[in-house]
Amino acid sequence: MSSVFGKQLKVSTFGESHGPALGVLVDGLPAGLLIDQKRIQREMDRRRPGGSAMVSARKEADQVEILSGVSQGKSLGSPIALLVRNKNARSKDYRDLAEVFRPGHADFTYFQKYGIPPQPGGGRASGRETAARVAAGALARALLEPMGIAFFSCTVAVGGIKARKIDYEFSHTDPLHAADPDLARAMGEKVLAAREKGDSVGGVVQVEVRGAPAGWGDPVFDKLDAALAGAWFSIGGVKGVEIGSGFEAAARLGSENNDQMDENGFLSNHAGGILGGISSGQSLLARLAVKPTPSISRPQSTRDLSGRQREIEIKGRHDPCLCPRVGPVAEAMAALVLADACLCQRALQGESR
Ligand SMILES: Cc1cc2nc3c(=O)[nH]c(=O)nc-3n(C[C@H](O)[C@H](O)[C@H](O)COP(=O)(O)O)c2cc1C
Repeated sequence: MSSVFGKQLKVSTFGESHGPALGVLVDGLPAGLLIDQKRIQREMDRRRPGGSAMVSARKEADQVEILSGVSQGKSLGSPIALLVRNKNARSKDYRDLAEVFRPGHADFTYFQKYGIPPQPGGGRASGRETAARVAAGALARALLEPMGIAFFSCTVAVGGIKARKIDYEFSHTDPLHAADPDLARAMGEKVLAAREKGDSVGGVVQVEVRGAPAGWGDPVFDKLDAALAGAWFSIGGVKGVEIGSGFEAAARLGSENNDQMDENGFLSNHAGGILGGISSGQSLLARLAVKPTPSISRPQSTRDLSGRQREIEIKGRHDPCLCPRVGPVAEAMAALVLADACLCQRALQGESR
């Protein structure tokens, strides 16, 4: 069950939802980068649960411990190990679920592949694993942010209600990270109404990266859009990725969809900042389709380990809508892909120039 990611910047996460801790080893970050623990913590706080009715009530401080690779606030160039201890795991919530496959979860497929019975909180498949990704993403930002690269995300649709405007500033103040101040309330009510009925809601998260230079990414199998899409699809619950115009491009004419240029640069950005798998220097723009949270407390039919039909109702603490949790993780994955692309580009220039 490999958990390693990246070429020049190798990221390896470990840990289960209800184990003692989870964490990440990041290998390949250059020496001399400013590593600000408070900055890492700020990213962790944006992802962590608790604090509103829109997210799981599991209360984790998600305090990051830096175990290696950093001295006097700077990277040493050696592997950086970050640890996050699980403090609020409640395995008893999963006692009745130890022998049944929860619909919409990885329980059935993990059992088929590894013979592992359902683990408390989903074990390795839990959204909790993404805390380690966010910690690693904060290290990637330490490389990219001094270059003027900035990351944004917000919730642009919930339960079919679609944002008409994007206000990242406002989204920081909204429990759903909703993009549109005029529709945030309606989105919130949709989530709470579903939650009241023991149900959950899906949505769409937008991710934007500003300031990435032109020329990053590989042109053939490891295209930048392929790497980003792969990274985003690796987040639990993400079921679709659109880059730039995405599926809308399929209904357009070439004359409508091409990004024309003049002496000052591009006149539009339907490509979402990537052409031929290489960054164009425009903003990278993507939208992620996020499925409704699979753990719902309504009665559902499933099977147990011996193949018998069973009816279950899932209790415990769950996010009624995954979108506000997914945004910061999606930014972290974008930061890791771009930091890797940046270091690959430096290696290429070192070799050929
Ligand atoms: C940050 C984050 C938090 C999540 N929280 C929950 C949750 O509280 N309850 C739940 O059922 N699924 C949650 N999920 C989604 C499941 O982990 C995911 O749907 C499941 O592992 C199956 O994977 P798949 O949806 O990619 O097929 C979360 C995912 C992420 C990224």
